[in-house]
Amino acid sequence: MKSLRDKLILITGGARGIGLAIARRLGRDGGQIVLTDLDTAELERAQETLQQDGVRCSVFTLDVTETDAMPDFRQRLHDTVGPVEILVNNAGVVFGGPFLDVPLEKHLFTYRVNVDGLVAMTHTFLPDLISAGESHLVNISSASALVGLPWGSTYASSKWAVLGFTESIRQEMTELDHKHVGVTTVCPGYIDTGMFEGVRPPLMMPFLSPEELAENVQKAILKRHELVLEPWLVKLTPFLKGVLPRFLSDGLADLMGATTGMRSWTGHEGGQRD
Ligand SMILES: NC(=O)c1ccc[n+]([C@@H]2O[C@H](COP(=O)([O-])OP(=O)(O)OC[C@H]3O[C@@H](n4cnc5c(N)ncnc54)[C@H](O)[C@@H]3O)[C@@H](O)[C@H]2O)c1
Repeated sequence: MKSLRDKLILITGGARGIGLAIARRLGRDGGQIVLTDLDTAELERAQETLQQDGVRCSVFTLDVTETDAMPDFRQRLHDTVGPVEILVNNAGVVFGGPFLDVPLEKHLFTYRVNVDGLVAMTHTFLPDLISAGESHLVNISSASALVGLPWGSTYASSKWAVLGFTESIRQEMTELDHKHVGVTTVCPGYIDTGMFEGVRPPLMMPFLSPEELAENVQKAILKRHELVLEPWLVKLTPFLKGVLPRFLSDGLADLMGATTGMRSWTGHEGGQRD
């Protein structure tokens, strides 16, 4: 994509954190932002700060688990701001803890937000991307899509699903000759938003800022990168997992603290487990 100027960009879960940073980054490049979230009060605060930064932004309360509401929401956008050209599926939740200590409903809810919500948004808005001259789908997965994550098993597996889904859609767009639809999976390590408060990050993988990640997402859209793997060590993970025998890759992950970091997870406001 040559430029983001005047592109209509829809972001889910954009009231704070990574979604808000992406909105600010893409909005500063001239994109017209449609920011959605289930938290209406936070959404309005986000709109205010974005507008103070000179970003064109409208906001809509949208819970990505309410999939039945999506066709009407799409129609509402068509009637007000127009068809979406860039979709950023960012909304996500995590409930850390030993698998059996986390109530089953929390595990299943993780899939409803992180997987079902993202698939439903893509199903609803992909026709807009296909009809546009030049468009892009960005799905936020995680570095945990490349490894196992003890104390975060359903979160990690939801992100494995996002990676597999997005890779498949990317190839499907090429097969169907919709090459004008760029597709990117974003797999970041820990980002300093509060979602992973309390976690001890692995060695040589410090928390990144949401702004640093947003910069990479902006580049990926403009240069049609298929994968964003950040920080640098995440780029090595698929290779290392591919060439090392399992006991060595497990040992390395252990040594770096990647398998134990989630033990101290508290998340936003000291924990969302119950
Ligand atoms: N923070 C990290 O370390 C990290 C690392 C890798 C991937 N990610 C992913 O990045 C994305 C954003 O994470 P973040 O750190 O900004 O989290 P965050 O908790 O700061 O923000 C998430 C936003 O999503 C919204 N949201 C939650 N459930 C929703 C729903 N059902 N419908 C609509 N909105 C909903 C929340 O209200 C919140 O505003 C998530 O998908 C997360 O899994 C985060």
